[in-house]
Amino acid sequence: MTRMETDFIPSPLELLTLYVESGVDEAIGDHPINRFAAKPPPVAVKAPTAKVAPAVTSISHPQPSPPQSHTSAQLAAACSTLVELRQALENFDGLPLRQTALSTVFADGNPEASVMLIGEAPGHEEDVQGLPFVGKSGKLLDKMLASIGLDRAQSAYITNVLPWRPLENRSPSLEEIAVCRPFLMRHIELVRPRILVLLGGVPAQTVLETSTGITRLRGNWQTVRLEQSDLSIPTMPTFRPSYLLRTPGGKRHAWGDFIQVAKRLS
Ligand code: URA
Repeated sequence: MTRMETDFIPSPLELLTLYVESGVDEAIGDHPINRFAAKPPPVAVKAPTAKVAPAVTSISHPQPSPPQSHTSAQLAAACSTLVELRQALENFDGLPLRQTALSTVFADGNPEASVMLIGEAPGHEEDVQGLPFVGKSGKLLDKMLASIGLDRAQSAYITNVLPWRPLENRSPSLEEIAVCRPFLMRHIELVRPRILVLLGGVPAQTVLETSTGITRLRGNWQTVRLEQSDLSIPTMPTFRPSYLLRTPGGKRHAWGDFIQVAKRLS
């Protein structure tokens, strides 16, 4: 430091002029601020414009679930006519069985008839023609009906638990039966028959919700109660015609069961 510099002591006016000329023209506080200790101000984030897709998709917001298909019970309950029920079954895709069948076998006969008969499921011939009981066992069923003065076109109405043929004529699975049952029960409600005849173990166990075998059930009147529509229907379980074709000894029992039906009708 030179002597000249130390010797120069500016007057307050000179000092102020020097500050102003150097750009120091703003009064600051009495106390110093430690800028290193202060928190950095928040950085403003620009919201993406509508055209820019966000880089990361938020996973904190639940995604809306895809629409669930209606259950068979919901679909069946929504049907108020046989035409609607047939349509609902034709549109139904809730069972793989549906894809391999040629037809939806809905029913045959007269929906105004007093007697409604329920079989298990269509076989090959029924699948081809789209009608229940039109093969060999159907011919036998027609004879059994005729023996008590009924015929399928006028005085009987026929359907099955399953409207689709299980491949290789295997027995329907419990799941298939459970899915089809609401349609069947709605079918019964819409027809409101005076008497139901259950042709074999699968229809008997499905409609009566029992695990008792057909040999013990057959020949004994049961009552099917449909609470929604306040219906109580006398019901006769009997052997299925295809069983009778293989086991002719069972025919006299089935004949007896049909005679009980005829007596009740008259
Ligand atoms: N057996 C049944 O149970 N249903 C049919 O439609 C034909 C044979």
